[in-house]
Amino acid sequence: MKNELLIEQVKSIIDESVPQIANLSNVTVLLKEGFKNINWAGFYLVDEANQRLYLGPFQGPLACTSIPFAKGICGRCYRLKEVVIVNDVNADKEHIACSAFTKSEMVAPIIVNDKVVAVIDIDSDVLNNFNEDDADTIKAISRILEELF
Ligand code: SME
Repeated sequence: MKNELLIEQVKSIIDESVPQIANLSNVTVLLKEGFKNINWAGFYLVDEANQRLYLGPFQGPLACTSIPFAKGICGRCYRLKEVVIVNDVNADKEHIACSAFTKSEMVAPIIVNDKVVAVIDIDSDVLNNFNEDDADTIKAISRILEELF
């Protein structure tokens, strides 16, 4: 089952009268609290001109500021245009380690006019932390956030 409460919370805090960064910042708080065992939650924003994702609002420890489309789980999500779940990041050669504590990860694209405009990255310090219900939840949240881009 999707986490309907979290989805509703995200809907309810979106304020179209303020800039995107203000809304995304508040959403990071809901993501970090709304999923279990989360040590990092935030956004990477697409920079088409430079073929990379750059760091957006987040909650958690310091993170890489720039990820080429060809690299990382975030880059894989950008290329595949679908939710990516990695159950054990240490077993995935593409994973870029920002925190040694991260064990599993879920990344979802935000797609507008058929183009990925950002990805939502959620990291856990527990192995196998994310399941299909979480994927459905983040997909629903991603759709709500489309309107901010
Ligand atoms: N692990 C990500 C990089 C971002 S940090 O986790 C915050 C990746 O492999 O793309």
